[in-house]
Amino acid sequence: MSEDREIQSIVSGIQPSGRPHIGNYFGAMKRHIEMQDEYNEVYLFIAEYHALTSTQDRETLKENIYNLAVDYLALGLDPDQVIFYRQQDVPEIFELTWIFNCITGMGLLERAHAFKDKTEQGANRSVGLFDYPVLQAADILITGAEGVPVGEDQRQHIEYTREIARKFNTTYEEIFNEPAELIEESAGTIVGIDGQKMSKSYGNDIPLFADSDTLEKKVMEIQTDSQPIDAKKNPEEDLVFTYHQLFTPEPELSEIRTGYAEGGLGYGDSKKQLLENMEQFLAPLRSKRKEIAAKPDYVKEVLAAGAVKIRPQAQEKLAQVRKVAGLTL
Ligand code: ADP
Ligand code: TRP
Repeated sequence: MSEDREIQSIVSGIQPSGRPHIGNYFGAMKRHIEMQDEYNEVYLFIAEYHALTSTQDRETLKENIYNLAVDYLALGLDPDQVIFYRQQDVPEIFELTWIFNCITGMGLLERAHAFKDKTEQGANRSVGLFDYPVLQAADILITGAEGVPVGEDQRQHIEYTREIARKFNTTYEEIFNEPAELIEESAGTIVGIDGQKMSKSYGNDIPLFADSDTLEKKVMEIQTDSQPIDAKKNPEEDLVFTYHQLFTPEPELSEIRTGYAEGGLGYGDSKKQLLENMEQFLAPLRSKRKEIAAKPDYVKEVLAAGAVKIRPQAQEKLAQVRKVAGLTL
């Protein structure tokens, strides 16, 4: 990712969709936190208007928004380094979405994979879900950020964002830059305790902030085959070992690998060691989370301060847009 190095500003949105699991952490959240030290300008926001396309339960959405803010603060998001805000606090995004709607062809959205995939899986075919990529383009382009760190599944959305920026620039005037997707190839997919991709919707996840008892229960439920303790096992074929690779430090990790390969290490003991290491890693995050969750005023202040930082530039961008589109007197 050499072009990456020149990129100074990045933006990413996160849907508030419930308690995070370790797949979300290693696949996305960890990276989000690390980036605050790597880029000059980092915009991170809660995409609750995207979540509206799938969640219409008031209490659930409300809790999810709050919890997402708490999760990120517990993981070490530094509000002095990151402009952290809620989509709704930047109403310019929604006006820009409408303006983009008017220059975006139906054909572009009809080719979107996400709409097809989600509706095939039973999602409501709402106009909002169809228009989801345009809202995402407005989220991104209003910040002027050069890079968008996302998972592979979001590649098309960033391509659409560039396409919409180009369409605007050629229809009116050159106002928007074309941002690049920053896709972390190495993150990979974390598997769930049943061996499929870890996902909330499959019920095979290990919650990131689980209490000790839940964590123990989950670890004990990790599926293994029925080879006896003495059998020589291939660590790469065992689910417990895949989690060791995330949580167990060296030299213990190598010892476990040898225990598998030479026989002698049973799944029960392997799980016990895993649980200890997970606990060591997760317990401090859990207690930090508890501390922050108990300070709703602080959490709200952080989000409000983020909005105060981004709003003037969003307003300025929108003023330019209105001007070139002929919306001003
Ligand atoms: P879920 O499938 O549990 O609903 P989301 O779709 O809300 O998770 O994903 C939120 C973020 O976490 C996305 O950036 C996604 O790429 C990442 N993510 C989700 N599941 C995994 C996984 N099993 N491994 C790695 N990353 C994941
Ligand atoms: N669609 C993204 C996802 O599901 C979330 C998102 C909304 C986003 N707006 C964004 C990501 C802007 C990056 C930039 O993960």
